[in-house]
Amino acid sequence: MKIEDCVNLDDLRILAKKRVPKLIYDFIEGGVDDEGGLERNEAAYKRLALAPRYMVDISKLDQSTRLFGRTYASAYGIAPTGGVGNYRRGGDLMLARAARDANIPFIMSGAATAAMEDMAREAPDHGWYQLYTARDRAISEDQIKRAADLGIPVLVVTVDVPASPNRERNRRNGFGRPLKLTLKTKLDALRRPLWMKDYLQHGIAMLENWKAYAPPDADAEGVSAFLATQVPTSVTWKDIENFRARWPGKLVLKGVMRADDATRAADLGVDGLIVSNHGARQLDRAPSPLDVFPAINAAVGDRMTLMTDGGIRRGADVLIALAMGAKFVFLGRPTLYGAIAGGEIGAAKAIRIVNDEMNKIMAQIGCPSLDQLGPDFLHRPPEDLRRNLQD
Ligand SMILES: Cc1cc2nc3c(=O)[nH]c(=O)nc-3n(C[C@H](O)[C@H](O)[C@H](O)COP(=O)(O)O)c2cc1C
Repeated sequence: MKIEDCVNLDDLRILAKKRVPKLIYDFIEGGVDDEGGLERNEAAYKRLALAPRYMVDISKLDQSTRLFGRTYASAYGIAPTGGVGNYRRGGDLMLARAARDANIPFIMSGAATAAMEDMAREAPDHGWYQLYTARDRAISEDQIKRAADLGIPVLVVTVDVPASPNRERNRRNGFGRPLKLTLKTKLDALRRPLWMKDYLQHGIAMLENWKAYAPPDADAEGVSAFLATQVPTSVTWKDIENFRARWPGKLVLKGVMRADDATRAADLGVDGLIVSNHGARQLDRAPSPLDVFPAINAAVGDRMTLMTDGGIRRGADVLIALAMGAKFVFLGRPTLYGAIAGGEIGAAKAIRIVNDEMNKIMAQIGCPSLDQLGPDFLHRPPEDLRRNLQD
């Protein structure tokens, strides 16, 4: 199968799987503990149905969406994913450029393998930065200053990594730091010659945004070892207050899953939330973001911009999240698989697939523009959403 033959996002996953060795694929696809959260995230979307409205003029379909003072082409963007250069060299900026060309936002990971300076040059209006708070807060403050000086419009602070998670696939595969390829992995990688050739030529990719703080002679392994001394660390409300005071742009917290935390964030002047469980990569027993969304929406929906991610695999899923009250959503693995499978063209293909699927569903349900979407398009909205509607 070639990129142009892929008809849905899962096809891109299958293609990507063929390009990287098992230890890389497992790192991307995997969850934690028993991996029940992965299924829960996707199932939350699949169990909801849309109630089609017919006899509506759908000759013009409009996905354009206003978010933080900008008009984007649709209501989804690319979630931050760390280490992309180790899956496909140059992958971070391939995703950034694909997002720019499609006029959707791209969030550069705090563990990116490209520099935020390069992203700001390549995708000035579309690139956001995601901060992983460092144990040495002076580093985080400097990263915030760099992002502000570059005019990056949105800072996303990820709050759901207080500790390293139990990713058993990684332990079984020997995926760790420094990256040591076991004989089994090397044999497996021989069947992935493009990846193997790149790895043998260049080694692991540099965590560009951390280079400035690591010892001056540190190579990619050295910077990666330095990052491991800084992250994870516990982020507290005091940090959020501090970041809010320093960051002049829009501030978003990623990983909030409770209404009381959402209220506290709103009280501190945080502009938005990405309701997320990190793609089920941190706490396997966390609920799906979609399941907690109605309670958070009821608590702060009128005070903050609420977004969500996790388990979105179809255009219909995007529409369901919006009908539930989300203003915007993000995709993690699907766009990443597009970039791994086909570079910038593959990332663009993932975006096009979501766009096309959304158009088809918008026409099917009689919803010509996204701002018309609401809970009345959901067949049997979840109980707590119904309750909120009645309140
Ligand atoms: C390989 C991989 C790396 C990730 N790295 C980060 C990261 O550096 N920072 C972050 O906030 N979230 C990270 N995430 C989580 C994503 O931003 C997002 O929350 C998640 O992938 C959404 O779920 P989905 O993959 O089902 O779309 C990562 C996810 C994956 C799959």
